[in-house]
Amino acid sequence: MTAIRISGTALADTLRAEVAQGVSRLQSTTGVTPGLAVVLVGEDPASQVYVRNKIKQTEAVGMRSTHHLLAADTSATALLALIDQLNADPAVHGILVQLPLPPHLEAKAVIEAIDPRKDVDGFHTQNVGSLWTEGCGFVPCTPLGCLHLLQTVRRDIAGLHAVIVGRSTIVGRPMAALLLNESCTVTIAHSKTQALPALCKTADILVAAVGRPQMIKAEWIKPGAIVLDVGINRIAQSDGSTRLVGDVDFEAALAVAGAITPVPGGPGPMTIACLLANTLEAATRMASA
Ligand code: GUN
Repeated sequence: MTAIRISGTALADTLRAEVAQGVSRLQSTTGVTPGLAVVLVGEDPASQVYVRNKIKQTEAVGMRSTHHLLAADTSATALLALIDQLNADPAVHGILVQLPLPPHLEAKAVIEAIDPRKDVDGFHTQNVGSLWTEGCGFVPCTPLGCLHLLQTVRRDIAGLHAVIVGRSTIVGRPMAALLLNESCTVTIAHSKTQALPALCKTADILVAAVGRPQMIKAEWIKPGAIVLDVGINRIAQSDGSTRLVGDVDFEAALAVAGAITPVPGGPGPMTIACLLANTLEAATRMASA
């Protein structure tokens, strides 16, 4: 068997085109241009790349993009003052503080300071609670993108066993809530889970979000399973160059899985497309409030 490759690049293109249409429609009916403010503290190279992509794609769909690049030693007081200012700005409909923050800043306090109606990352406790109670708050972008990718290969996932490897607040936990809301039977595995290979092998849907390059082997995968690989790991090659790989041993997994996302070109592009969709939704809600 050779698995279907689920293209995040193609689906993200489609979703971005829909968002661009939605932006035009909102502008023509209400005069409102959705605005996304991106905040980056410090100079983490990976975060700089993500933020540059977010800004570029926000502008490409016709939204207003503002960015705030702050020094690594920015105080909590200064950062919270900026959040207050963005909360009060009617031209800003979405606020994204790129994580991780430098160690002296507490991410939780910063996220809780964001107006939940502008929390397009879906990280504020009000949106987290909404997700777990099947409310209509914002859903974190990476898990939301994964659900869209999964639904391209299988619509009805009720009753399937989903195993999520990784319990982060950005991916693992919200992914569990989303799949539970779709009536999957959900198991969250993590670094202390016993007999992980055997557990993974029981998964109809396997979500890898651990951040360990190629950790999940073909033998851990149930034949025909749908595999969503959220990992983005840069590894060195023998010729001195580097390449990106996921948390799954992709080439070997292709022979066992029913469908699998590649890295790069899987959940990554969908994360930004879902961020744009959430920002359009935030602006739409505010325009009609
Ligand atoms: N860092 C890694 N992923 C994300 C994300 O989805 N949102 C934010 N704000 N920071 C991140």
